[in-house]
Amino acid sequence: MTSSAITKAPPPMSLLAELTHRCPLQCPYCSNPLRLDPRAGELDTATWMRVLDEAAAMGVLQVHFSGGEPMARPDLADLVRHAVSLGLYTNLITSGVLLNRDSLKMLSDAGLDHIQLSFQDADAQEGERIGGMAGAQAKKLEAARLIVEDGLPLTLNFVIHRQNAERVPAMLDLAEQLGARRVEIAHTQYYGWGLLNRDALLPDRAQLEATEQAVAAARTRFGNRLAIDFVTPDYYAERPKPCMGGWGQRFLNISPSGKVLPCHAAESIPGLTFPSVAEESLEAIWQDSPLFNLYRGTDWMPQPCQSCAFKEDDWGGCRCQALALAGQADATDPVCHRAPAHDRIEQAIAERPETPPAFRYRRYSNTI
Ligand code: FES
Repeated sequence: MTSSAITKAPPPMSLLAELTHRCPLQCPYCSNPLRLDPRAGELDTATWMRVLDEAAAMGVLQVHFSGGEPMARPDLADLVRHAVSLGLYTNLITSGVLLNRDSLKMLSDAGLDHIQLSFQDADAQEGERIGGMAGAQAKKLEAARLIVEDGLPLTLNFVIHRQNAERVPAMLDLAEQLGARRVEIAHTQYYGWGLLNRDALLPDRAQLEATEQAVAAARTRFGNRLAIDFVTPDYYAERPKPCMGGWGQRFLNISPSGKVLPCHAAESIPGLTFPSVAEESLEAIWQDSPLFNLYRGTDWMPQPCQSCAFKEDDWGGCRCQALALAGQADATDPVCHRAPAHDRIEQAIAERPETPPAFRYRRYSNTI
């Protein structure tokens, strides 16, 4: 056996296919990068088909079709059908505003396994203000109704922040009323657009605790009828999260123009070279690219991570958050109470303004 065979990385479990950055919504916490890929640079259908072939061949199990709004791509059903033919589990992550009976039938006939539908709020007016799209809520409610009628498993996703946290009980009721099987109550993550809008989004501790209580009460009330996932805001967490299950270990993300990334925010880290599916195979990128090997495993870790008993549980936390708060991507995630830069988290909470500033919406004209 060669040494490269000994050190071969296990294949990723999931691939996030960001088909486009175009989207009718403008959510100020969007996970897309601050510099959005233009339509002209998007991969064509044939290249996405080849990428799916390569993903299946290397052992990927799940493909999440995302964006922007992936339903803006007319070839979405063809890509789903191809992924299904390769034995991949297919999930569509959508805002629902472009979904209608015909487009849903095409996806359902293509074999789509699951839909994750995002809502910005349970309150229509507030949801449309947060998402920056008038008329969105009625389209989302109709999308949910059609999906459940079709029989496709539905997960609702709500991103939580200081301007909608009080309505988490209403969000949970809405998920149950719409017939969702699962709901994600996910507090905002603060990098990219979320970091840019942090003062407008970061809840206080009392708001966080109220959301935790609402989720606990709904779990009792709904039992097995509705599975509830809760994502705590990093800034109030006890320990850093194992971001992406560890850099280059379980997950890869392909941008609309074909860049292959270990996480959706990796482009915020300066000085890195991002490999492209237009130039190399997915397997070569996953195994051999400097990018995917940069923070893989534990060798790269500084102290106190290096001597920490949890280093293979949290994998040092999030590299993009370390960069955003400590100024270095290879620093210990400041969420950790032992991190040298932990005071940046406390400072951000202490300096949170009483009145939230206006949103800086995610749109091409605000691209940095
Ligand atoms: Fe990039 Fe966490 S988002 S490592």
